[in-house]
Amino acid sequence: MSNRSRVDLRSDTFTVPDPGMRRAMAEAEVGDDVWGEDPTVRRLEEAVAELLDKEAAVLVPSGTMANLIAVAAQTRSGDELLVDRDAHIVVYEVAGSAVVARVQVQLLDATTGVPEADQVEAAIRESNIHHPVTRLLAMENTHNRRGGAAIGPQQMDAAAAAAHRHGLRVHCDGARLLNAAVALDLPAAELVSACDSVSLSLSKGLGAPVGSVLAGDGGCVAEARRWRKRLGGGMRQAGILAAGGLYALRHNVARLADDHQHAGLIAGIVGEAPGSEVMMPAVPTNIVMVRTTAPATAVVERAAEQGVLVTGMGPHLVRCMTYLGIDAEAARRGGEALLRALDSLAA
Ligand SMILES: Cc1ncc(COP(=O)(O)O)c(C=O)c1O
Repeated sequence: MSNRSRVDLRSDTFTVPDPGMRRAMAEAEVGDDVWGEDPTVRRLEEAVAELLDKEAAVLVPSGTMANLIAVAAQTRSGDELLVDRDAHIVVYEVAGSAVVARVQVQLLDATTGVPEADQVEAAIRESNIHHPVTRLLAMENTHNRRGGAAIGPQQMDAAAAAAHRHGLRVHCDGARLLNAAVALDLPAAELVSACDSVSLSLSKGLGAPVGSVLAGDGGCVAEARRWRKRLGGGMRQAGILAAGGLYALRHNVARLADDHQHAGLIAGIVGEAPGSEVMMPAVPTNIVMVRTTAPATAVVERAAEQGVLVTGMGPHLVRCMTYLGIDAEAARRGGEALLRALDSLAA
């Protein structure tokens, strides 16, 4: 069986632009964005700033760069960053915070996806010649490794308020913030009203090929622009990419509800597997995280034989993701193939 005939549930980054998006990209009005002269990039940045109710925004090539420049722009070398141990920033961003921003990371255990206010308070170091300055709290919404949990505004606000009481800045890795907003049926801005900076990916469930946007107050975004240039992320006629992002914001947000429904379908099917456990956050989205008794590598291989591609996320953890292009029928077929794989490994 070729990968093309398998249901591909590895990641929502496998979305491809549809004809309408390609047309919008081909027809985009462009200029040199490093000079601030690309009208389509400007329109996208303004649209995201407005969507998230922030003063300004900047387009960057990836979610990883958005998070990195958010950390770099809001800390100084030797400061400390508080972040959940399972956050994307910690697990999948190649230690950029340490290597580039040169901050120390203090890991928190945010089992529901966001740290409790008292966890944040307890982690903040008092002023002392021996201590780093605890400068930034980073949260993730939705939380990838915590089963795609959508985090509500009360939890976000409580953690942010604790950080702000001690003078910290607060960043939200909102790569899938719009999944959270749709799942919670709330405006995205309400989820991040207490955050000083927010990154939003265009290239995941929203279906654009490239790009993330970092939004925040004017000073933070101005500093982030310097960091983007420093890291080589200043792009020229980037309006071609921004047009895909604008199209995605116009056409692909409400339909995220379908992805959530399809993920629920998969969770229901896979939940039948003996010995396996589907991680069920209070508000799930487009991620189905399964704790397996068999090694994840064996599950991934067996699942591929059965007709579905899934991702290993740890020794006994596999992930399925739904996205534009995975309809209910594909989700059902994928879920059933994974169930067969888990059943056969349990036998
Ligand atoms: C929660 C989260 N943040 C950030 C990123 C990084 O995005 P990118 O792959 O565009 O660098 C990802 C990627 O999957 C993610 O899941």
